[in-house]
Amino acid sequence: MLKLPGLIDPHVHVREPGQTHKEDWDTVTQAALAGGVTMILAMPNTKPPIFDASTLDLALDSAKRKARCDYAQFLGAGPDNAETVAALAPRAAGLKMYLDSTFGELRLNDMTLWMPHFQKFPMDYPIVLHSESRTMAAGILFAALYDRPVHIAHVSLKEEILLIKAAKERGIKVTCEVCPHHLFMVSQVPEEERGKKKEGRMEVRPRLATQKDVDALWDNLDVVDCFATDHAPHTLAEKDSENPPPGFPGLETLLPLLLTAVGAGRLTLDDLIQKSVINPRRIFHLPEQPETWVEVDETAEYEIKAADQFTRCGWTPFEGWKVKGKVRKVVLRGKVAFEDGKVLAEQGYGRNVR
Ligand code: DOR
Ligand code: ZN
Repeated sequence: MLKLPGLIDPHVHVREPGQTHKEDWDTVTQAALAGGVTMILAMPNTKPPIFDASTLDLALDSAKRKARCDYAQFLGAGPDNAETVAALAPRAAGLKMYLDSTFGELRLNDMTLWMPHFQKFPMDYPIVLHSESRTMAAGILFAALYDRPVHIAHVSLKEEILLIKAAKERGIKVTCEVCPHHLFMVSQVPEEERGKKKEGRMEVRPRLATQKDVDALWDNLDVVDCFATDHAPHTLAEKDSENPPPGFPGLETLLPLLLTAVGAGRLTLDDLIQKSVINPRRIFHLPEQPETWVEVDETAEYEIKAADQFTRCGWTPFEGWKVKGKVRKVVLRGKVAFEDGKVLAEQGYGRNVR
């Protein structure tokens, strides 16, 4: 039996408030525990988005009643809430800025709308950027101009990881995360057709990339600070509709996929712990979770099946994938929270780490 520290997932879409038919604070934290994740940072693109004191209270009230693992909630940057969110920073995981195409209402197209957030959000709380390609370059320029840390969400392209590497070498305060789906899946759509037609279940932002991009992520794993799932549940009916929303569930497949990569020699266990525990804790200033660990049967080989999952969305893009490494038991703050396929932590056991 392999013993790991509880994983931290810095990028999770909980869907509550507003879209609890996809997921809620109860089901998402069950999925987290089943995946060996003991702390999640929740994204603000809910309905309504989390962008002021009353919406933050709305999310935190549900979390307090329902969460089974530990958590913190991000605030969303809007066109005119820089002062409001700066004042709320101590109660939140950090600030999320959507500079690019995404799901929901929190998109900031105009760079003049970025400036007040970079000026006002407290330096010791992270700004996380959803940015792709050239908006990422602009975001990194902002980090340099305002001399403050930014964390780049879900890096997927070769040009992005190389840019982040160059920025780090010059001392710009930039960190980044990659998602399992960008490490393990390649786009099946020819490059010239990408973005032109709907990709059904495979819709995700950033889109799945080419083999060249995937190779570049693996070749530059030392530039990657964190693994993050971008757990973004949508129901199968929604994914199979005319206008499929982007996003994949990921909490329950993160650890088996990474452990399978460890088994194949593509990653070390040390890398896994560094990028799923130590670095997210440092970057987001998260507290240690005492008496918290995950027991994994390293030898268990099995197929990923949506039917075995706790997420409410009812599917996984990794259906049928063969993996090695199964979570047997999770202990969270001294209490058995998951064992032999059953979630034992009760609703409300999870703590707000802010
Ligand atoms: O694929 C995505 N899904 N990308 C995003 O930016 C948002 C997310 C969601 O909330 O569904
Ligand atoms: Zn996301």
